[in-house]
Amino acid sequence: MDNINTNNMTVSNEEFLATVAEKSHGAALRGDYEHADSHYVVKQHWQAYTEAEHDLWRALYQRQMSLLPGRACDEFIDALHKMNAADGIPEFEKTSRELFAATGWTIIAVPGLIPELTFFEHLANRRFPVTVWLRKPEEFNYIVEPDVFHDFFGHVPMLFNPVFADYMQLYGKGGLKAMQLGGLEQLARLYWYTVEFGLINTPQGLRIYGAGILSSGGEVEYCLTPGTSSRHIHLDIQRCLNTLYKIDTYQETYFVINSFQELFDGTAADFAPYYEKLKQGQALPANTLLPDETELLV
Ligand code: PHE
Ligand code: CO
Repeated sequence: MDNINTNNMTVSNEEFLATVAEKSHGAALRGDYEHADSHYVVKQHWQAYTEAEHDLWRALYQRQMSLLPGRACDEFIDALHKMNAADGIPEFEKTSRELFAATGWTIIAVPGLIPELTFFEHLANRRFPVTVWLRKPEEFNYIVEPDVFHDFFGHVPMLFNPVFADYMQLYGKGGLKAMQLGGLEQLARLYWYTVEFGLINTPQGLRIYGAGILSSGGEVEYCLTPGTSSRHIHLDIQRCLNTLYKIDTYQETYFVINSFQELFDGTAADFAPYYEKLKQGQALPANTLLPDETELLV
């Protein structure tokens, strides 16, 4: 990665790990940060994955594929099939070449979670960071940190869609801007409710495009089950920026878009006035339904 713009705002590994340790009361991140460069890029070392890890990947892949038809959006399913990722943990470079040809994005390998600034810089330059390590067998159904299955299986297929790919780059640029404006908490909620847990309305019914759902054992079915206590409401950008989210349970609200173009157009506005306004009020609990909102039928 010698063509990355170096930038004096880059966060060193030591600084980042110290901040994470402080925030998580000493709990360490799992990845190997020792060998990361100043942009947190590592080598994938594909040859080093064990047969047991490839087996676990195949089992995860097959389980998700038993759940996703009729639930995941067509854009995701179609791209996933073209990616040939069913046979084991994929080599990032192969898919990265195909992805670059499709939408100009590349996949870069990272040790795990990376600092926000670095993350935004990668997205703003159409580079998607994918964690290299795979979860343990006992984490088959649930994992706290993103691993290669979540990052690759959940996120990469959507980057083959030109409009969504543009949205992700714009989000990265928006992140850099939000850091200057003190709007990071608000902007992170939009990522959560769209990129991770977003649903899209189609003529066939609601479909999933959020990676957090697509790579999850339980939430794929849950989020499309009628009669749960979770809400499905049309995405309003400012409302979403102001809505708290749950990280350790299924979502209490799913924001639904009508098209990726709608998502792109709605987020093209200048968020500076939104941040200013929202900073003065209180964020809404995750299960809020405002008087003028209608829940969509599942
Ligand atoms: N338009 C937003 C801003 O001005 C940036 C953004 C774009 C945020 C796309 C999210 C997604 O801050
Ligand atoms: Co993710």
